[in-house]
Amino acid sequence: MIRKCLFPAAGYGTRFLPATKVLPKEMLPICTKPLIQYGVEEAMDASIYAIAIVTGRGKYTLENHFDISYELEHQIKGTIKEKRLADIRRIIDRCEFTYVRQREMKGLGHAVLTGESLIGAEPFAVVLADDLCFGDGSGVLSQMKAIFNRRRQSIVAVMDVPPSEISSYGIVLGEEIGDNLVRVNKMIEKPVAGSTDSTLAVIGRYILTEDIFAILKRVKPGKGGEIQLTDALNAQAEGGGVLAYRFKGTRYDCGSLRGFVEATNAVYKMLSHASDDRLSV
Ligand code: UTP
Repeated sequence: MIRKCLFPAAGYGTRFLPATKVLPKEMLPICTKPLIQYGVEEAMDASIYAIAIVTGRGKYTLENHFDISYELEHQIKGTIKEKRLADIRRIIDRCEFTYVRQREMKGLGHAVLTGESLIGAEPFAVVLADDLCFGDGSGVLSQMKAIFNRRRQSIVAVMDVPPSEISSYGIVLGEEIGDNLVRVNKMIEKPVAGSTDSTLAVIGRYILTEDIFAILKRVKPGKGGEIQLTDALNAQAEGGGVLAYRFKGTRYDCGSLRGFVEATNAVYKMLSHASDDRLSV
């Protein structure tokens, strides 16, 4: 059973400076919702309601977003605007949020390890909120959870990227085993373009078995003292313990300016199709 979802959200978001000087990257809005809210909604869609967030200094707006704002609620109660809080209210009513601070930015692996106190000894999901995913039919986490329930192995979500872009991703080498699954033999973190034929790139959705924490504690820090999640996944993969899943849906890299704008346009289109009243003013 996957009951908990970890959101590493302690990064500096330097590609969006100065917007991210005070505002966490995860709080940047795609139209009307901050990025992290889409991630939490995806977790809920997968019936995961325990939301564990790894934060850093100055990230208190995240905690405030997932809490009641009495003044605001009071002000707009009974007006037409009240329905604009419906989605976030649903989240606050249903989910339980816990937080831990990553004191030093020592990489994604270190952020996941920091989350151990919130997760404990059970398999869990990880969402990088700056990857905004819209699944075909069901959400991407939901698709991955269904596979986990059958396979009981760590799963990374992957997509094919153009060969020129492999140096921006963790790249998976492995064997196709059907059902859009690849048994991972090896993962290479940001390989030089042309150094491998594989174009199968890991995106920010994972399901991890609990032994990942013990492995992360053994992983040696790499460049810049960072602990890479990829190194820990490679250790799991050696024992045949990692699957890569070609998810069904669309992913926007909202950690980059281009992806952020593309996601904004796509969500704007969705709001138009839904005849959202906010578009008419
Ligand atoms: P990124 O490298 O994409 O995020 O990390 P960043 O460092 O915030 O962005 P830029 O490159 O400076 O613009 C991927 C995810 O891992 C989290 C980030 O918050 C992001 O969600 N992360 C990364 C941590 O929580 N802690 C870290 O030490 C590193």
